[in-house]
Amino acid sequence: MANSNPKVRIDSNAIIVELPLTTPTGKVRVKRRINNFGLPVATRSTPFQKNDYVEWQISYGTKDGNNVLDFIKFPDGKVGFELAEIVYYAKQLGILTQNDLEELLDFAESVEKTIEELETLVRYSTDKEVYGFKRFEEIVPVFIKSGRGYFVEIALKHKQKAIGYQSMVYLCVWVKNLEDSKGSSLIGRKAEAKEFARFKITDENKEIIKDVVRAFAIASKQHNADMKILLKKVMERC
Ligand code: ADE
Repeated sequence: MANSNPKVRIDSNAIIVELPLTTPTGKVRVKRRINNFGLPVATRSTPFQKNDYVEWQISYGTKDGNNVLDFIKFPDGKVGFELAEIVYYAKQLGILTQNDLEELLDFAESVEKTIEELETLVRYSTDKEVYGFKRFEEIVPVFIKSGRGYFVEIALKHKQKAIGYQSMVYLCVWVKNLEDSKGSSLIGRKAEAKEFARFKITDENKEIIKDVVRAFAIASKQHNADMKILLKKVMERC
């Protein structure tokens, strides 16, 4: 499914990110915000609405991607990818300044305890029973930072194959802030087969990049350490 991966490229003074709209089980999923939850949307059969967004489980490193930045190497053997590309291109284009990168590095260095270290999932028993089954309630922390046209979500989950917690970082962009290949809005129509939508990152909305870096910096110790490496490498290079 290589051709359904998100793509990051430069176009004159902007970074263009192209996100797939028809990959409901992939790293990019279209969701509909209802009562603060994101419910999946069948985009080939349901027209896009104003409360729809694209949820991207954005990476910053990979062991096997194309278009990698191999001057950014992480201790686990991964090389720069996706967020790393965005930060690097943003610095090259002057969207992110040296000052921005220093501010982000200071932020990452100021984080004492990350969400993985501070937070837990909790289950409480209640007095209620339903047909002989005791009712429990669960508290699952979710952290959200909203910006213009996007929000960044950090969700705490149980690790899949080990004991402990794992912070997941999602960059979510409202569909109303995306455009199709003709530059038109998607709202009110369904997705075409294998369609991608674009969003542009410029000077005006560079906070989106900074908020994703900040999210990884507070998500876990490892992500925090990796953000420091990423930022330092980009500062050295440009
Ligand atoms: N590792 C790589 N990308 C991640 C993400 N978006 N959230 C959590 N861990 C990750």
